[in-house]
Amino acid sequence: MRHPAQRIEVRFDFPLVFTRDAFAPQNATLAEVIARREPDRRHRALFIVDDGVAAAQPDLEARILGWSAAHARHVELAGAPLCIPGGETAKNDPRHLQSLLQRLHDEHIDRHAFVVAIGGGAMLDLAGYAAGIVHRGVRIVRLPTTTLAQADAGVGVKNGVNAFGKKNFLGTFSPPFGVVCDAAMLDALPARDRRAGLAEVVKVAVVRDADLFEWLVTRERALTTEDSAQLERAVRRGAELHLAHIASSGDPFELGSARPLDFGHWAAHKLETMTEHRLRHGEAVAIGIALDVRYAVAASLLPRHVGDRVIGLLEGLGFTLWAPELEERDTHGRPRILEGLEEFREHLGGRLTVTLPTGLGRAVEVNAMDEGRIVAALGELERDHRPRAARADATRIAAAVASGGPP
Ligand SMILES: NC(=O)c1ccc[n+]([C@@H]2O[C@H](COP(=O)([O-])OP(=O)(O)OC[C@H]3O[C@@H](n4cnc5c(N)ncnc54)[C@H](O)[C@@H]3O)[C@@H](O)[C@H]2O)c1
Ligand SMILES: [Zn+2]
Repeated sequence: MRHPAQRIEVRFDFPLVFTRDAFAPQNATLAEVIARREPDRRHRALFIVDDGVAAAQPDLEARILGWSAAHARHVELAGAPLCIPGGETAKNDPRHLQSLLQRLHDEHIDRHAFVVAIGGGAMLDLAGYAAGIVHRGVRIVRLPTTTLAQADAGVGVKNGVNAFGKKNFLGTFSPPFGVVCDAAMLDALPARDRRAGLAEVVKVAVVRDADLFEWLVTRERALTTEDSAQLERAVRRGAELHLAHIASSGDPFELGSARPLDFGHWAAHKLETMTEHRLRHGEAVAIGIALDVRYAVAASLLPRHVGDRVIGLLEGLGFTLWAPELEERDTHGRPRILEGLEEFREHLGGRLTVTLPTGLGRAVEVNAMDEGRIVAALGELERDHRPRAARADATRIAAAVASGGPP
């Protein structure tokens, strides 16, 4: 070989633990995760809390203080917990990144200290990014607090913030030191956010696990009511499949072009931006899945009755599979959502690679999508899922415009 390559091998391992009431004084889970490498040391930890979680659980800070006192042998708080805004604003507004970096600096968080981040996927993405760049990477333990974060966003190796109007434009691949999913965090979650995470579970079921898909179908009602046990099971299975892919795909840092866990995401990411984050990530993913399922049927990759079942499940879970922004056109009359495809390719680099289902639990990678077919799939979504009032409105406006009168 003319230029022999150097080989650098790095192993990562981190626990994903499910518990309930992580901050009950007798619950040792988090302390064990923090102390897992050096059980005889007292570890400094800066706690960061999503303000949505803090608002839903006003006693959380007091419970963290009580818990840390009970586990003082392993954990020492690095100052008072820091509350930062949750939701997409955490990733959109660079001032939140700056204030977080400032606090990590002020508290002298080094590579042997910890950031413990408690929040939804957006706030965890921000905290993970800050932890990933301070001293080139300090330890972070994540406590995801939404169904989406526990099933998907909070358990993997990616983090990042938005910039230049693009989702996750800045970010790193940095595995956490550990992840602790506290089921009690989901109890206080608004119905909308309980549902949102199920889109990611449906996603991974469709491309990876037909049994999970059938399980979801039979528990559609339970999952949308207050049945916490079923929701916890769905979230846990989603997280396990997500991590199994990262651990076994041979490409955890996505150096290649294939990203099966991004099924439905090319349109979802664009839609989140187009709606200025009115839609939650999970809600946009549900629409993205529906669009790609309709496309896969149109491309004869997926039998129609299977596509109908996927869409039926999303509807049964209560997702709205249409957004008015899907009607937006550019100056050439092309649906703006199509820009998402190029942005998705650019984010990956290399060849466009989109995962499409070929059956339940099965998928293929395609390197091109036909624009005409996407437009036809959009038309089907519009026909089947656009609210009737909006359709009547559009018909009235079109008729008025055609007759030259005011709409
Ligand atoms: N890193 C990844 O691999 C990955 C994967 C998927 C999604 N994501 C990202 O995750 C984000 C979406 O995360 P999300 O769906 O968790 O929503 P989110 O983080 O935007 O949170 C939604 C809202 O719920 C509040 N909240 C969080 N936990 C709560 C609780 N227990 N009780 C009450 N309110 C609570 C938040 O304050 C926020 O207002 C997106 O930015 C998306 O890009 C990242
Ligand atoms: Zn996602």
